[in-house]
Amino acid sequence: MVIPASWLAQLFVLVLSFNGLMAIGFPGAKQGIVCNESFMLQNLPVCGKSFEEMMYKVDSKKWCNLTEFILYYNNFTLCTEHKATTARCFWPNPLAEGFITGMHRQLFSNCTSEKVHWGDPPDKVLFTLIFIPVLLTVMMIALVVWCSKNNDILV
Ligand SMILES: *[C@@H]1O[C@H](CO)[C@@H](O)[C@H](O)[C@H]1NC(C)=O
Ligand SMILES: *[C@@H]1O[C@H](CO)[C@@H](O)[C@H](O)[C@H]1NC(C)=O
Ligand SMILES: *[C@@H]1O[C@H](CO)[C@@H](O)[C@H](O)[C@H]1NC(C)=O
Ligand SMILES: *[C@@H]1O[C@H](CO)[C@@H](O)[C@H](O)[C@H]1NC(C)=O
Repeated sequence: MVIPASWLAQLFVLVLSFNGLMAIGFPGAKQGIVCNESFMLQNLPVCGKSFEEMMYKVDSKKWCNLTEFILYYNNFTLCTEHKATTARCFWPNPLAEGFITGMHRQLFSNCTSEKVHWGDPPDKVLFTLIFIPVLLTVMMIALVVWCSKNNDILV
């Protein structure tokens, strides 16, 4: 299967949204949110590096073929999520997404020059990738705050 950019974008948003929903039950939320951003940013490149190493094992001609690297991609997403949560940051969060879209730019930018047509201007896709999860995160934080202020309503 050759991936159109829009598919990858949808997959990405889906994964992030799912993880975002799981984050509602994340215990850190109840202990107050102390996100150590510098700690997270220090650790994210570890994920990037191992993803890159795994991708280099794949023939670069197949980099636009999702079935070839979906496992690695999932591993990479889980890894970034792990780093974010160990830094007690919400997942997804804008800084981590910035990092991930950077990896996308680096690894998948050449797919445009192949037969694969990536469609819309990448910035539009990237904006959607970043904006939707951020919106979800903000809504979830609001929900958590609201719930903790209205404890009696939740039984
Ligand atoms: C993508 O990879 C899969 C699995 O290796 C392969 O079966 C399929 O033919 C590939 N598709 C293209 C268009 O290269
Ligand atoms: C955040 O992580 C850094 C290490 O990257 C550490 O030096 C610092 O003490 C941490 N801050 C908090 C508030 O835990
Ligand atoms: C995921 O990545 C970790 C560390 O980079 C590696 O140890 C593990 O084997 C990988 N898992 C899969 C399914 O590739
Ligand atoms: C993309 O293509 C350029 C020019 O062919 C090459 O220099 C670069 O290494 C390629 N990047 C990736 C990630 O394959």
